[in-house]
Amino acid sequence: MKVLTVFGTRPEAIKMAPLVRLLNHTPGIEHRLCSTGQHRQMLEQVMAFFEIKTDFDLAIMQPGQDLTGITCRILEGMRDVFAQFRPDWVLVHGDTTTCLAATLAAFYAGIKVGHVEAGLRTGDLQAPFPEEANRLLVDRLASAYFAPTQRNVDNLLKEGIKPERIVMTGNTVIDALLWAREKVLGFSAQVPPDVQKVFLENRRVLLVTGHRRENFGAGFEQICRALQTLAGRLPELTIVYPVHLNPNVQQPVRKYLSGIPNLLLTAPLNYPDFVYAMNKSWMILTDSGGVQEEAPSLGKPVLVMRDTTERPEAVEAGTVRLVGASTQRIVEAVEAYWAQPIPTPTYNPYGDGQASKRIVSYLTKKAT
Ligand code: UD1
Ligand code: UDP
Repeated sequence: MKVLTVFGTRPEAIKMAPLVRLLNHTPGIEHRLCSTGQHRQMLEQVMAFFEIKTDFDLAIMQPGQDLTGITCRILEGMRDVFAQFRPDWVLVHGDTTTCLAATLAAFYAGIKVGHVEAGLRTGDLQAPFPEEANRLLVDRLASAYFAPTQRNVDNLLKEGIKPERIVMTGNTVIDALLWAREKVLGFSAQVPPDVQKVFLENRRVLLVTGHRRENFGAGFEQICRALQTLAGRLPELTIVYPVHLNPNVQQPVRKYLSGIPNLLLTAPLNYPDFVYAMNKSWMILTDSGGVQEEAPSLGKPVLVMRDTTERPEAVEAGTVRLVGASTQRIVEAVEAYWAQPIPTPTYNPYGDGQASKRIVSYLTKKAT
């Protein structure tokens, strides 16, 4: 059986890396890895950490790229890859433009698609944008569905997907996190000195990330004002913010948040360093999907700067709270927790670290 895994952005690479490592060593499967290169630096560091190499690299990233450009370049690039390596299955991940465009290219070429992290839904096409549309479209075209949770399975069943095509696997992010945590505990994380220094000072650290397209503009201004306010009102707090490389994020963040003494802006952290930072933080403020899934394993409270989430399991587990991209709500929530921290459960609804094995097991059964 010939299998081609495709990814292009940081979170896809983190979540596909354990699966790629397993597929590379599975007898009976001829596996190749294709990066669309939708991300560059943020992707390269993940691949180096997980020790995986691409067989095909479309290298499509351009500064300030738009959705149409990325989609077109990936569609053409995938067509040429399929001319060289014609897989039986293409494996895609999640909800990015890489995921949708690779799925569409495979569909045009008559190749089956396996969707890893299938069945997540907010029910709102505008949030997250364009990810909710991407995953709906991918799930119309796929042939196999690797759903992290029972809720994700139920979403797919409601949309008429046949049960025999769905496997509940858990989320591969937990496979990745466990791998990284072991390495971090083994002291191989090389955290940048300025970040390391903050965590050694024994102060409460608020770790921040943010990059959602629907927050660009007004949303990011609100977020930045919240961080300014918190840094001023809580001088005992240190804020650490690894800033996403998207220029729509870099510009407001550098404009509003430079030069604040208890607020450290850094480049995106390498994955093991970010795991170290999450583990050492007091609280996390984010709009990231992956971070919402990782934090429950680390027992860290998370405020999510969105109005809706496709990952309600962690809200129900008591780890995640939605606060929107609203200055007032963010400030109130952090201050309330500052005054009265509540113990956070370490129960993780997203899996047991065996998701990649379940996916490979499904594929090998199909091969026989
Ligand atoms: C993309 C995904 C989003 C995912 C996020 C993870 C889409 C539409 N968006 O958003 O779903 O949650 O990745 O981070 O698929 N850049 C660099 N170097 C990098 C990465 C990005 O310079 O390594 C800059 C470039 O200027 C690039 C810009 O960021 O043009 C935007 O990248 P893009 O992938 O289009 O959007 P993201 O906001 O990263
Ligand atoms: N992450 C990282 N370095 C950082 C910030 C995040 O390695 O500086 C990791 C994080 O642990 C998670 C993933 O990147 O696994 C999330 O990526 P992102 O927030 O870019 O995308 P999303 O999950 O929202 O699609």
